[in-house]
Amino acid sequence: MALKVGIIGNGGIANSHMYGYQDLGDRVEVVACCDINFDKAKEFAARYSIPNVYDNCYDMLRENALDIVSVCTWNAAHCECTVAALNAGVNVLCEKPMAMNAAEALKMEEAAKKAGKLLMLGFVRRQGDDAARAIELIKNGDIGEVYYAKATYLRRAGFPGGWFGNKALSGGGPLIDLGVHVIDLTRYIMGCPKPVSVYGATFDKLGARDSIRAGGGGWISETVVDKPVFDVEDLAVAMIRFDNGAVLQVETSFNLNLKNGVGDIEIFGTKAGFSMEQFELHTEKDHELADIQLKGDHRFVFDRDFKREVKNFADAVEGIAPCMAPAEDGVTLMKILDAVYLSAATGKSVDIL
Ligand SMILES: NC(=O)c1ccc[n+]([C@@H]2O[C@H](COP(=O)([O-])OP(=O)(O)OC[C@H]3O[C@@H](n4cnc5c(N)ncnc54)[C@H](O)[C@@H]3O)[C@@H](O)[C@H]2O)c1
Repeated sequence: MALKVGIIGNGGIANSHMYGYQDLGDRVEVVACCDINFDKAKEFAARYSIPNVYDNCYDMLRENALDIVSVCTWNAAHCECTVAALNAGVNVLCEKPMAMNAAEALKMEEAAKKAGKLLMLGFVRRQGDDAARAIELIKNGDIGEVYYAKATYLRRAGFPGGWFGNKALSGGGPLIDLGVHVIDLTRYIMGCPKPVSVYGATFDKLGARDSIRAGGGGWISETVVDKPVFDVEDLAVAMIRFDNGAVLQVETSFNLNLKNGVGDIEIFGTKAGFSMEQFELHTEKDHELADIQLKGDHRFVFDRDFKREVKNFADAVEGIAPCMAPAEDGVTLMKILDAVYLSAATGKSVDIL
């Protein structure tokens, strides 16, 4: 029997989830969708021939016997919609970031446990071939003991617009939007060590930088707002210490006066350093410095890896494969983000318990 699917929040990223479900053929049937902007829900339903359309998730969950939902709303509604679905006995794939903060994330994790249903997070970067190859390099001992890493996601002029700068809807700026991808991915590659303390700083010197937004690149929100609010940080930097002694340095911005945007993860070990961007090992050979370029195709491919994510979700729901992004990793991530924001506000290092 096909898994019955519902999509909550029918904006930009919901399309990527739909492509994933379409790719699963007759294993799934997308039977319902909803958006608080009913026009958007109707458009989405028409685009994908989805028979049942709603302006809220409660009616959708009550009137359809769903097996799984994707939660693709703005961040402020992730917790509410996820808990509603889990309480209705439905498995959930929730977009990143898991929630607005760790308290909400814990509520969601608890709801999943109580319902005995799967809550998977949309950490799509975990699905990339680059992540798998980096993990393999560490497992093979090519990097040695990993004791330092850098996660960088800097945009020169890349505020996505819409609700992304409105703290009440987003929970924060580039840290919670972009940082979440690279912090999670780096921690995942490092074997998910437990974070113990964080020192962070945030800035809002450039703000939305509307004047040159057109040149920004990156994800643009589909939700059009007349005058977008911008009350979040435009730059966040942080140092995260793990219980194995390793440290992760993070830099992430919507707007920053640098020459070119950067998206890279660098892992530094006793035998070699590794850059995901260059796909290169930096090491030594016979008392000489040596750089080893890995020539295979190890890219993260957005559409393909979204399909992998949705497939992994369906596989995990059906017990065919383990879930690659469980709720507990989302909770840990939200604890890190909370600690960065608290440290930035207090100027002090924050312990994570
Ligand atoms: N994984 C990725 O690479 C990636 C990329 C982009 C966005 N995202 C995430 O996806 C989510 C959505 O982003 P987007 O760019 O698609 O936003 P969007 O503005 O295009 O769409 C969000 C939609 O959610 C709807 N919504 C809000 N509250 C709702 C509720 N309670 N019930 C039903 N619908 C509700 C809005 O009306 C809107 O149509 C965000 O959490 C974002 O961080 C992830």
